[in-house]
Amino acid sequence: MVRAYAITADAVAAERARVNDDLDQVDISRVVQLDSLELPKMGPNDVHLRILAASGEHNVDHAALADTVNIAQLRGGKMYPGNSALGEVVSVGENVTRLKPGDIAITHCNGDPDRFGFPLRIWAYDKPDSIGWYAEESVVGEWQLIPAPLDCGLNLWEIAALPLRAPTAYHLWRRALGIFRVKVSREHLSEINVLGFGGGVSELFLMLAKHEGHRAFFCSGSPERRAALEKLGITGIDQKKYNRFAGRDDIKGFTAEVKKLTGGEGMHVVCDMLRGPVFPAGIAASARQGVNVSAGWQLSKSITYDSAGASVKQLTLDHTHYETLVGCAAATELYGKVFKPTVHKEIYAFEDLPRAMVEMHKNTVTGIPIIRIAKDLPASVRSIAP
Ligand SMILES: NC(=O)c1ccc[n+]([C@@H]2O[C@H](COP(=O)([O-])OP(=O)(O)OC[C@H]3O[C@@H](n4cnc5c(N)ncnc54)[C@H](OP(=O)(O)O)[C@@H]3O)[C@@H](O)[C@H]2O)c1
Repeated sequence: MVRAYAITADAVAAERARVNDDLDQVDISRVVQLDSLELPKMGPNDVHLRILAASGEHNVDHAALADTVNIAQLRGGKMYPGNSALGEVVSVGENVTRLKPGDIAITHCNGDPDRFGFPLRIWAYDKPDSIGWYAEESVVGEWQLIPAPLDCGLNLWEIAALPLRAPTAYHLWRRALGIFRVKVSREHLSEINVLGFGGGVSELFLMLAKHEGHRAFFCSGSPERRAALEKLGITGIDQKKYNRFAGRDDIKGFTAEVKKLTGGEGMHVVCDMLRGPVFPAGIAASARQGVNVSAGWQLSKSITYDSAGASVKQLTLDHTHYETLVGCAAATELYGKVFKPTVHKEIYAFEDLPRAMVEMHKNTVTGIPIIRIAKDLPASVRSIAP
């Protein structure tokens, strides 16, 4: 038996009853609770992993709130969350060739690739029987692991921040740029304007854009996160100056700043991820032929837009999910070179994981929240664990 966090349908229902279904009042720490689980038996293609660190992810927030679907209920009343982790290989099944005991690996969460490689299901979310990694140990298939790039220049916590968010950003970027290039070739425009709204995925998306020579803009309410990106040459826009787009005048003011920053052109590519009031602001800030891409719906699941206006402006909306397995490996090549994540200043202890989830939910973190799961770290990573 190992200690692992669980979300039960009963805990979701009890918390919803306590707050009369007012999701703004939900205390996530009452829903994400420490539990235990028996590890599945090792098969010949499996790897026994000791989890060293994990990142706080918004799908856990969605599971605890049951705001997208009531996933704990759909999973039979209980689920073990956590689908972004870094761990030490303890032992391997007889068919495993890419990893050996002592190696350090990162996970991906593509739980069920379709025939083109994109996930039909996400591990530790809607993939049936999948067990997440907010746990001391786990047994996973070799196909779910990628060797951790320990010499990429990032520290251990920064590497642990990336297994879910970096492949998501990588996929969003290659799709958005590919779509834009169908409309406007390099012959006509080499350097494009790229906008991302606050959040870990958007930050990584903008790092890709900047690295490839484009102009990148980060519209966020967090001064710490804007300052971190400005060090990489990514221009910050204060979202709170526009009241997080509460009214039409706020969007007008924001659009005017975007026009000023881009010489009247607007944004050729926008990464949304949040929807809600952020969506119309992203559309208003778009240049002609623009692409608006998102893999998230943190503020709202649905969007409405003026189809005629989008046609006249030749806008494209694209919806993505998580990367393919090949894409996850390709994204990992860019750790440290392109992806330099901002990590929240406190590294949370395993016992403090519910508080980490609360602070991420309340948006009081200054970067991606990291939970240190193992107290003792193997010698191979001690020098990169500040
Ligand atoms: N489909 C996929 O595979 C996939 C993968 C990853 C994430 N996602 C989804 O994408 C969304 C974002 O994920 P993430 O990992 O980038 O999130 P994150 O790192 O946790 O960041 C969330 C950001 O939301 C912003 N925010 C919070 N409240 C806001 C409000 N009221 N108005 C505007 N902005 C607000 C904050 O930005 P500022 O305070 O800095 O403005 C915060 O940094 C989530 O819904 C997540 O589930 C999907």
